[in-house]
Amino acid sequence: MLEIRDLNIFYGGAQVGRQINMQVNEGAFVGLFGRNGSGKTSLFRAIMGLKPPTVQGGIAFKGREITGLPPFAIANAGIGWVPEDRKIFPNLTIQRNLQLGAKSAKYPSGRQKPFGLDDAYRFFPKLYGLRDNLGSQMSGGEQQMLTITRTMMGNPSLLLLDEPTEGLAPTTARDVINMVLEIRKNFNVTTIVVEQFSEHLLKYLDHCYVMEMGGVIFSDHPSVLLKDEALQRKLLGVG
Ligand SMILES: Nc1ncnc2c1ncn2[C@@H]1O[C@H](COP(=O)(O)OP(=O)(O)OP(=O)(O)O)[C@@H](O)[C@H]1O
Ligand SMILES: [Mg+2]
Repeated sequence: MLEIRDLNIFYGGAQVGRQINMQVNEGAFVGLFGRNGSGKTSLFRAIMGLKPPTVQGGIAFKGREITGLPPFAIANAGIGWVPEDRKIFPNLTIQRNLQLGAKSAKYPSGRQKPFGLDDAYRFFPKLYGLRDNLGSQMSGGEQQMLTITRTMMGNPSLLLLDEPTEGLAPTTARDVINMVLEIRKNFNVTTIVVEQFSEHLLKYLDHCYVMEMGGVIFSDHPSVLLKDEALQRKLLGVG
């Protein structure tokens, strides 16, 4: 579904992505790990066609080259991005926030029905009661869940989640991950998630990448990482 070939990423003269190769299969749940500054967000920006950074190399989505396309064309092709800094519209109601995520009735083939407002409220029931409140009145965890459901309203076939649990209390973080798992179960959306190393999350992943200094230094099944604490320490400084 997503194929990244020999991708180099630059901010001006500074190279922050080096010869990145990734292959993400349809329906997969993929984890992307790495220390601060290793290049994870830059890779997501590169996939979305956002500038900066600039890129060299190839990114293909559903067999079509998307490198160099403008961000709206990449979003319309079916890639949904939830950035690090939950971008909700604080002065609009929650329902309006959700509606702004909706795109034309197009949705991925194989999906029974598009993801709609009813689904947003089903996966995150608390939203329904709050639907006439302003976005700014929500807690951090609620804003994160709103951002994810709003992105799903665009019916992406690939979802990029950049540190969805950052700064949240552990129980709230777990709620966010559980919501993502529920959405995946019902909508089979291929997902790449950037996260802190977490055994809870690792259990559900089909594949893991670890980046360091802009390069991919690990690409394998999470079980390989899970059972090898020395490797965890070496790759991520945990364990
Ligand atoms: N707009 C920018 N201009 C110049 N350099 C940048 C810019 N954004 C990021 N960088 C640099 O690119 C490198 C990779 O940053 P990036 O944000 O992609 O890392 P990350 O893995 O997402 O880190 P974190 O875990 O802290 O979110 C870092 O050295 C960072 O300082
Ligand atoms: Mg980042």
